[in-house]
Amino acid sequence: MLYLLFTTHHYMAGPVLGFSKKTKDQKIQWLIQTYFAEDPLAIEVLKKYWNSDSKLQALHDDFIENTISNYYLPFGIAPNFIINKKLLALPMVTEESSVVAAASNAAKFWLDKGGFKAEVISTQKNGQIHIDFFGLGSNLHTFFSEVKPKLVQCIDTIQNSMQKRGGGLIDISLVNSTNALEGYYQLHCTFETLDAMGANFINSCLERIAKTFEMLAHDYTTFKSDNIFPEVVLSILSNAVPECLVRAEVSCPTKLLSTNEIDGAVFAKKFVRAIAIAKVEPRRAVTHNKGIMNGVDALVLATGNDFRAVEAGAHSYACRAGTYTSLTDAKVENGIFSFWIEIPLALGTVGGLTGLHPLVKFAFSLLQKPNAKKLMEIVAVAGLAQNFAAIKSLVTTGIQKGHMKMHLMNILNQLETTKAEKNSALAYFTNNTITHSSVVSYIEQLRS
Ligand code: MEV
Repeated sequence: MLYLLFTTHHYMAGPVLGFSKKTKDQKIQWLIQTYFAEDPLAIEVLKKYWNSDSKLQALHDDFIENTISNYYLPFGIAPNFIINKKLLALPMVTEESSVVAAASNAAKFWLDKGGFKAEVISTQKNGQIHIDFFGLGSNLHTFFSEVKPKLVQCIDTIQNSMQKRGGGLIDISLVNSTNALEGYYQLHCTFETLDAMGANFINSCLERIAKTFEMLAHDYTTFKSDNIFPEVVLSILSNAVPECLVRAEVSCPTKLLSTNEIDGAVFAKKFVRAIAIAKVEPRRAVTHNKGIMNGVDALVLATGNDFRAVEAGAHSYACRAGTYTSLTDAKVENGIFSFWIEIPLALGTVGGLTGLHPLVKFAFSLLQKPNAKKLMEIVAVAGLAQNFAAIKSLVTTGIQKGHMKMHLMNILNQLETTKAEKNSALAYFTNNTITHSSVVSYIEQLRS
């Protein structure tokens, strides 16, 4: 039943039923009537972002439920990355104005110093079947060892093709977590998903194993005679992937770090100190790692991967020792500066959006069609490069100079400046400090 809720200023319709069943036009109509009755231009905004190629638009519409428009983010390029001796231009999708510029600067900085090196350490993913069991623990362990071959066998059809390619379930183990929570056990399952991110594959395996586990438990004599059965609470992959790890690094003699502004050895010392602070101070580490994720996420988004999964995995890895710490580390030894990152990255180069989104396909072609391991290396490098650029600015000029330079265009666009006004502002602010108010007064002055 439709009803109206009255507030002091305007009314809003009540809940809408069967929204997902409506056509796109009906959804928009409802939305406009309900929330934009006094804004006739709202629908134009939505329509402006529709793609004129109706087939392409339909593809995008189907990515999620209730699509009404497309939401653009800039797709930028950071060229000149040498990664394992190969020259690459990285596709980056981000809303933050300074990210691509920072990545490009870092790439250029390391271009004549050997570039970046990266290597995958491990590629295992995992998931758990979380179980309640309030009987004798040893009974559950005996049951598990008896039925384990059947639990493996029950996913034969699901993992058939993954196994043919060399992946699949690696192992299942029963974990007693009753010390942490009464009656709580897990089936911890490990997987190799090769070039797939693997979320669907892992979850399908877990759900089938869970079902089989419960079915076998219901026929098990010991549980029947005690009338206490294990029960599955839930089954899901874990986004904590510390066994799906990649390392990237740069290094060079400190004297090569010298610039017009600062001596290389002095810079290296300050840089290492900045990392040391991020290692011991969680509040700094969070921002430090956020900067790393500026680069990581931009690549993850451009390649159609799940950035929330990557974020969750990275931050959980950052506090693996119990305290949140830096994902990067640095040292100077015998006059050699080294800077590296170790980060877990669950990425796919097949499945999901990878074969669907035309810009994702473009990104993969640009990256020379990497497999998942190569993509892990590239993304880790993007994170390291981003962190290098941030720390380099922070320990020298400060971050605002570069940030505001990049942000200047956003302010000028907000002020709806003409091309001529833009050009004159850009010229003026090459040598003057950029703040929001200084730009506003400059434009006001121009216009008066
Ligand atoms: C801003 O998006 C990222 C930085 O804050 C990262 C850092 O502080 O290291 C600049």
